[in-house]
Formats: sequence, C-alpha cells, structure tokens
Amino acid sequence: MSKVNSSFSPPLADTIEQNAKILTKVIKGASLNSLLESNTSNKPISPASRHWLFEVLRQYAVLEDSINSILIKPKNRKFDKYIYSILLLAIAMFNSNRHQSIVVNEAVKVAKKIKSTIPNPGGLVNAVLREYLRKQKNYQNSKNSQFSADEIKYWHPNWWIKILKAEYPDDYLSIIKANNSHPPMNIRVNINRSSIENLTEKLKNFKIDCRPIKSINFFEYESQKSEKNVVNYSNYWASMQVKPEFSVLDNQSFRSGEFSIQDTAATWAISLLNIKDHQFILDACAAPGGKSCHLGEFCSFHKYQTKIISLEIDQKRAEKIEENKKRLQLKNIKIITGDICKPNYWRKKLSKNLFDRILLDVPCSGSATVRRHPDGKWHLRETDLIKYHYQQLEIINSAWNLLKPNGIIIYSTCSSFSIENEQVIINFINSLQKKPMFKPQNIGKSNHEGKYQIYQTILNLVNTKMKYLELNVAKIIPNQYHDGHFYASLRKL
Ligand SMILES: C[S@@+](CC[C@H](N)C(=O)[O-])C[C@H]1O[C@@H](n2cnc3c(N)ncnc32)[C@H](O)[C@@H]1O
Repeated sequence: MSKVNSSFSPPLADTIEQNAKILTKVIKGASLNSLLESNTSNKPISPASRHWLFEVLRQYAVLEDSINSILIKPKNRKFDKYIYSILLLAIAMFNSNRHQSIVVNEAVKVAKKIKSTIPNPGGLVNAVLREYLRKQKNYQNSKNSQFSADEIKYWHPNWWIKILKAEYPDDYLSIIKANNSHPPMNIRVNINRSSIENLTEKLKNFKIDCRPIKSINFFEYESQKSEKNVVNYSNYWASMQVKPEFSVLDNQSFRSGEFSIQDTAATWAISLLNIKDHQFILDACAAPGGKSCHLGEFCSFHKYQTKIISLEIDQKRAEKIEENKKRLQLKNIKIITGDICKPNYWRKKLSKNLFDRILLDVPCSGSATVRRHPDGKWHLRETDLIKYHYQQLEIINSAWNLLKPNGIIIYSTCSSFSIENEQVIINFINSLQKKPMFKPQNIGKSNHEGKYQIYQTILNLVNTKMKYLELNVAKIIPNQYHDGHFYASLRKL
C-alpha cells in the first residue's frame, strides 16, 4: 500500500468524521466519485482524506472481516453504518502508519459525538480498535464475515475472481494486484503547446516529478502495414507519469492547456484510428472528451483538414467536453448532444456523408480501472455485465451503419471482462453473417521493457469467408504504469 504524508492535517478527527459520513453513504450504495464531485459539506476533501476513502474501499472485504470477528453481533445488519465506517477508516490507518494510539483517540472522539441507539459508541469504538491492535492480523476469514476466504484474500468479489482466473490464467494475480493498488497518474502532453522536455522542465519548478512513458510499436496493425504507412509514434503519444498527483490540476500549465490528465492506455486509441487528412471522424461516446481532445490535438498538430464530431448522449457530460476543448484551445471539434443508437436519424442528418473513422469508447463496467473507483468492486453485479454487453452491441451495430466502406471503427472499453470485449465483437460479427464463423485465438502476450503486457487476440477471420470486415484485437492489462484497456479495430471492406 502506498504511504501518504502521515503528518495529519487537517486534524485527524475531522478527516475521520468527514470520511465516515461519505463512507456510510457508499456502503449504502452511493457512488464514491459522484459524492466526491458533488461534495455537499462546507469543507473541501483533502488529498490525504481521499486517500483513506479509496484505501478502505479497496480493502473493504479484509477490513470488514477484521471488524466482524471482534463485534459480538456482527450479523445484525442494523449495526450503525456510521460507527462501522469509523472502524473501517481507523483500521485502514493502522495498516499504513505508525500513529496507532493517535488514531484510536481521534476515532473515539468522533464516535462520542454520535447520537446513536447504540449505548456508548465512543466506548464501543475504543474497545474494538484496542482489541484489533492486540491481535492484529490474526483476524482472517472470521466465521462472521459476509465474505468468502478468496474475497478476503484478494479483495474482490468471488464472481470477479472466477472470471479473471478463467480468462487470464497466467495473469489474474497481477491484475488483482494492480486493481488493489494505488493508481498511477499519467498526463498527456498537448504537443501543439508543449513537449515532454519543456513540460518536464516547467513542472520541475513545482516539484512535480515527470517520467515519460515510451510508446509501443506493438500496434503496427494490418491496415497500417498494408498501406506502407510508417507511423511516427511520438506524434501520437506524449505520455508521462507524474508525482505527486495532487499538485497537478492546480498547475498553471494544466489551466493553459499544455497537458491533460489521461491514462497512457487510453491514449492508444488515436494511433489505432490511423487518421489521414480530410477525413470525417466521429467520436460516438465522447464525454468527458479525453479521447476527442486527443484527436483534436493530433489533427491540429498535423494541420489536417479533418472534421471531428464528438457525440454524447448526456447533456451535462457533454459540457465537460466543451470545458476541455476550451482549455486546450481546440477549434476542430464539433460537439453534439445525441444518441448514437438512432442511426436512421443520423443518416438523414448526415445526408449520405458517412464517416471515415468512428471511435466507440463505449460505456462499460470499468473493471480494468477499478482502482480509480474501488467502490465499483462491491457495487457491480455479474448481471450488470449482461446489460453492458447488450448496450455495447447496440452501439456498435448502430455505428456500423454510419461507417463508409474501407472506414475503420475502433471499439474500446476499460473493462477486463471478455463479455464486454471479444464477446461483443463476436456477437456483432455473427449478427452480420447470421452464423458463427470463428473462435477467438489467443496468440500470446507481448512484453516491452518489462513494463507492458498486452494480449493480442486476432479473431480468426479469413477474408475470403468474411466479406465484410478486417479485424484486430488487443487487450492491455493494468499494471503500475497504466490502466487496462481493450481495443478492437474493425475495417469495413
Ligand atoms: C467511457 S465514456 C467515454 C469516455 C470518453 N471517450 C473519454 O475519453 O473521455 C462513455 C460515454 O458514452 C456516453 N454514452 C452512452 N450511451 C450513449 C449513446 N447511446 N450515444 C452517445 N453517447 C453515449 C456516456 O454518457 C459516456 O459519457
């Protein structure tokens, strides 16, 4: 677990109180990121405070197990969730710093303020925490836990572990480790306004350490090879890992559009699109605009006369694209609020002007970026994946009708589960041909400087059999350098 500055400021009791209120809502089903975005308390939530919230939710199963093995009536679901949250926070804090007695005293202070049906909440918190400290680490898989031994060991729900084991027999442990870790913060340099070198120098003055992430030639995929187009990857990516994270958004260089926050795995979409001058490009699921703006930056860097449309169904989220576009001073993106699943409407509106390129960064479970929204591990249900699958299938089906012959769709998700990835592509292709044509074939993984692990799965399509498309698929698994991502590139023949 990563450490944060353990000099507690704001006062620890305030941090525990503010976080316990948020955690209580998350345990009841609210989304952590929405609560953080709409912070209704009159106090800002400090980076250190956020750190504890994320840690508790990453480790939730094991922390719950520890508490339930001490509480006398753990199965009593009416047990005050607020007190429970104070305990979760205090134990997470024990596990990552040395101020154990301070943590106990401050947690008790917060509990004493509670008007609870439970008598003497301060005494209860004191007793549980001191008991935990006496027998620390001896509470593993208590009889009272609602979680199984595997859930407590891996900090993931059983169904999630089962899928990862089946789909990544060699890598499931490293995926689980990455999902349970603190994520890296990566930035994308706006190559129109700065460069890796200039920005590194500038951010150094603010004591922000930058580490460039090298590009990967892995995605030299068929269409690029066949057109003998040698790609200069440095023009696509300028990705760096930055530390410490919290000072980055405040920075003048961010406000003036010299960089954006974007994970390196997400930046690969633009190179896969294989864009040429004068093309008509649709980003069909565009908000908050990370990939749209990268597209805009790329085209303006090359002085391309491309037309880019950023389509987003949600008006509020579309405003985020506008904000980013403004900050990055991009003029080549048109933002439209609308639904990609109304292809007839779009066909009419486009008056036969179909797209050369369509980016489909579809809504998904976010399972490959779950360390950034760790409550997702406990809120997501396996049945939700089926809903996502059908939504994704509808989106790709609709977009296909808006693509020119010889055009390319890049389908992408930040999910690790094949039901949102290969299986969507397979079902989509089957719906085109009305009969199963192939099985996905894993051709192994590729390692670059020991940093990147990518599965490339060429879905085994023979062009003579499949008259309609050409296809490549790549899965990127999350690690300490970047998140996980799935990409499929489909060319309409
Ligand atoms: C994964 S996010 C896209 C992230 C974005 N590409 C980026 O890089 O910032 C998916 C987006 O698709 C939008 N969306 C979902 N269904 C849609 C539809 N039928 N038509 C258009 N947008 C849709 C969601 O509101 C959400 O903002």
